[in-house]
Amino acid sequence: MIKKYILHILSLLLLFSCQEQQPAPSILWGGEMHNSNASTPESIDASLDLAVSLGFNSVLAPVSWELLEPVQGQFDFTLVDYLLKAADKRDLYLGLLWFGTWKNGESSYPPLWVKADTATYFRAPTCVAEKTSPISPFCAAAREADVKAFKALMAHLKMADKTRRVRCVQVENEVGVFAERDFSEAGIKAWEESPWSRSDDPLAPQYFMAEAYARYVDYVAAAGKEAYDIPLFTNAWLAPADKAYGKYPNGGPRVAVLDVWKKNAPHLDWLSPDIYGAELKEMCAAYGEGQPLFIPETNCQAGRFWYALGEAGAKGVFGFGYEEHFDNPYYTAECKVISEMLPLIAEGHPMRGFVRIDKKDAPDAVETLALGDYTFNVHCIEGEKNAHGIIVQTAPDEFTIAGVGAWIDFGPRVQIAFCEELRDDKRWQVLNGDETGHHNMLYLRGRLNIPEDGPYYGLSYQRRFRPAYQELFKVSGIYRIKLYNL
Ligand code: DGJ
Repeated sequence: MIKKYILHILSLLLLFSCQEQQPAPSILWGGEMHNSNASTPESIDASLDLAVSLGFNSVLAPVSWELLEPVQGQFDFTLVDYLLKAADKRDLYLGLLWFGTWKNGESSYPPLWVKADTATYFRAPTCVAEKTSPISPFCAAAREADVKAFKALMAHLKMADKTRRVRCVQVENEVGVFAERDFSEAGIKAWEESPWSRSDDPLAPQYFMAEAYARYVDYVAAAGKEAYDIPLFTNAWLAPADKAYGKYPNGGPRVAVLDVWKKNAPHLDWLSPDIYGAELKEMCAAYGEGQPLFIPETNCQAGRFWYALGEAGAKGVFGFGYEEHFDNPYYTAECKVISEMLPLIAEGHPMRGFVRIDKKDAPDAVETLALGDYTFNVHCIEGEKNAHGIIVQTAPDEFTIAGVGAWIDFGPRVQIAFCEELRDDKRWQVLNGDETGHHNMLYLRGRLNIPEDGPYYGLSYQRRFRPAYQELFKVSGIYRIKLYNL
C-alpha cells in the first residue's frame, strides 16, 4: 500500500517536472521599465507586478554597466539574476537594455572608474554648452572596457537564464553626439582621414558619425553574440535629416543614416525606432522594411499598439515608463483588451490596423482598408480622442475587430450576417438593431468603465454620448463579425 502511494507521488512529481514551459510568444508586447526601476529587487518586483496586472507578455529592463562592474574586472550579477527569477516567476519574457558607454547620447551609466578617468576614456566635446561631453566613439579603451563587460553579461545570461526568459538584448541606448561631429583629437583626425570629409553631401557629417557609432556598437555586439547568440539590436532617438546639430544625438540609427548602420553593424539583428511623435506611421514603414519592426519605446497610448501590431506587423512594441501610467484608466483597461487579442494576433492572420494619430485630421476622415474580399470604410467619430482599432481576418467572411471611437461600413451590398461582442473570450452580447445600424455598420462603441456589479452595467451603449454619461470612458471593445454579399 505504502509502496503504491510512494509510486503515485513519484509519478506526479515526474509529471510536473516534465511539464514543458509554454513556447515564448512570437510577438512581444508590453512596456519598457523606467530607467531606474531595475536597480533594486524591490523596484523590479513592483514594476513586474504591474506588468502582470496590465497583461503584458514581456518587459524591457535596463542592465546598467555601473551596477554590473562597479570595480574594474569584478562583475556583480545579483540584480540580473534577480530579474531573471522575478520574470520567470511571473511568466514574463524580457528584453534587456545594455546601458553601457551611452544612454541618450550621454555617458552617465559607465562605472566611475571609467567616467572619472577622462584621460583614458576620453570625451567627445559637444556643441551644446549645458551638456557634459559623452565618451568619444573613437575611444578604443572605452570600447574594449565596454566589450569585456557586455561579453561577461551575455556569457552569464547563457548560463543563468535556464528558462530562456531573455528574448533579445539592446546594445547601448540612443547613441550619438549632440554636435555636428566628434571634436575630440581622435575624432578630428578620423574626420580628416575619412572620404566623407571630401564629400559635397551636406549630410556627410551625419554619415561619418553614424559609421563611427555603428562600428563601435557592432564591435560590442559581435563579442556579445559570440558569447551568447540571441537577437541583438540598438535603438534610435529619431530626428529629421535637417534638424539642427546639437538638438539630437547625431550618429544614432536615424532614418537618414539607416543604410550606413545596416552596412557597418552586421551583428545587430535589427535597428529600432523610439517613436514618440506623430510620425508613427512613417517610422513604422521605414523601420519595417527589410528587417523586423521592433519598437522598444513609444507613448503609452493604445492606438499606437493597435497600429503597430495590426497595420505595421510589429514583432515587438513597448510603452515607455509604463509604471507612470498605472492610474490612467484608459491605458490600463486598454492593455487588458490588447492582452485578450494578442493570442489571435500572434496566429498570423491577415490584419489591418488604424489610428487617428494626428489631431488635425479632418473629423469626418474616412480611411478605406481592404482585407480579403471586403472593404472596411473606417469613419472616425467626431470629437473622439481615442479612435483606433485592429481588424483580423480569421476566415474568408469572418473578422475579429477590436477598437473604439469609429464606425465601419462595408460599402454597398455588403451586410453583417452576425455580430457579437466578446469579453474575456466569451460572448458578452449579440449585437443587432440600433447597435449595428440594422447590420449595415459596425459601431465600435467600446467598453464602458462601469463596475460589473454596478447599476448601469447593462445600459444602452448609445447613452454614452449624453452629457450625464460622458464620464463613463470607454476603451476598445472586441467584436466578432461575419459578412455576406447581398
Ligand atoms: C528615450 C530614452 O531611451 C529613455 O530611456 C527615456 O530616457 C526616454 N527617452 C524619456 O523619458
